[in-house]
Amino acid sequence: MKLCMIGTGYVGLVSGVCFSDLGNDVICVDKDINKINNLKKGIIPIYEPGLEELVLKNFKNKRLNFSTNLKDSVRKSDIIFICVGTPTKKNSNSADLSQLYAAGNEISKSINKFKIIINKSTVPVTTGDELEKVISKKVNKKYFSVVSNPEFLREGEAIRDFIYPDRIVVGSNESKSHRIIKNLYSPLISKGAKFISTQRRAAELIKYASNAFLATKISFINEIANLCEKTEIDVEDISIGIGLDKRIGSRFLRAGPSYGGSCFPKDTKALVSTAQKFKTNLSIIKSVIKSNNKRSDLLSKRVNFILKNKIKNKIVSFLGVTFKANTDDMRDSSSLKLIPFLSKKGAIIKYYDPTGSKKEFKKLKNVKFSNSIQESIKGSDIVIIHTEWNDFKSINFKKFSKNKKLIIYDMRNIYSPGKIKKLGFKYFGIGR
Ligand code: UGA
Repeated sequence: MKLCMIGTGYVGLVSGVCFSDLGNDVICVDKDINKINNLKKGIIPIYEPGLEELVLKNFKNKRLNFSTNLKDSVRKSDIIFICVGTPTKKNSNSADLSQLYAAGNEISKSINKFKIIINKSTVPVTTGDELEKVISKKVNKKYFSVVSNPEFLREGEAIRDFIYPDRIVVGSNESKSHRIIKNLYSPLISKGAKFISTQRRAAELIKYASNAFLATKISFINEIANLCEKTEIDVEDISIGIGLDKRIGSRFLRAGPSYGGSCFPKDTKALVSTAQKFKTNLSIIKSVIKSNNKRSDLLSKRVNFILKNKIKNKIVSFLGVTFKANTDDMRDSSSLKLIPFLSKKGAIIKYYDPTGSKKEFKKLKNVKFSNSIQESIKGSDIVIIHTEWNDFKSINFKKFSKNKKLIIYDMRNIYSPGKIKKLGFKYFGIGR
């Protein structure tokens, strides 16, 4: 099939590349001319394992192309995916849909035959209805169909999540679109992916409800971890103990720093805001947001407690600053609160991240990027493991540090407390 992806962010680029790898002709469109020129040269704007290889392979065999010409790309395609950003509006909790409607308006100028317009961006329920109205200002409804096909990719695991999804959700009010899209996804369905057809509004809400539920699960285990710390229980035992109940499930029950990234914080807020519009009180999700916001303060207090209220002049090795492993994304990462807190209290911070130094910390006092794990740990009083990169999973602390009083604060519970204590170091984890 001939596909056009509007927006080459996470969702657009990964889905476009994967669809081309499944044998479709795909044009990825973006307004950003530098981004498009770079993509044509094989320079990828984001860090995502496996993405570069797939871009190079499919660009070379001409199934994948990049363009800044939206009109031309829409004309050449049968299915158009809108994959633009829906960030939080300034001074509000609701989603900013201006890029989405602008894309709809542009598409409407280029419809020359029947097109399926699929929204993959995360949007509040009823947005599809509005998008349909925008396009129908210029085009008769019989020439297009607006569908919702939300994306469930995780950063860092996006290619795998695309190829082996738990489910594919397609929301349309017309059976013809369901059939065409099911055909598009047939290579994944034949490998076992479940295909769910719903009304358009239901698909939109499935996406928000999924992210909000996962955020709830994480906040739940994080609060249980707080109790574990007070009662000398290892939260890892609790996660296993409750996760084995199939009604609960074991995934997304890892206690850690507050959840971050470009999705959970933004989508939970937007869902509450949408519900308010429909006079519905989502009290559980409101508490989740509150609990997550408070978590960084709680962790800052814990560092203070671990260092016995003496943060000033302490040398802190901070490992991993992104919101999670396998990504270079800093959005809503808890390090954005923790590192400034430590710097303000007078600590000397040497941070290391496999994806390099970050502009966010450039202006902070006594915060420097180290070129390796070893360099970061050398001479430090405390090592804070903030993300769970494989690189951090078997560090030889004895070799890297001559400090016999070294403290390890493992915010992802990567290490066995017993083993670290046997090495003679002090160990603190989350909820243990
Ligand atoms: C999330 C969803 O998992 C995807 O299904 C969805 O498609 C995506 O948002 C989106 O809406 O685009 P992502 O933000 O990439 O994906 O990252 P996650 O792996 O979900 O992690 C989010 C945050 O929760 C991270 O800070 C992570 O460290 C934290 N987390 C996750 C935990 O603290 N514990 C866990 O058990 C799992």
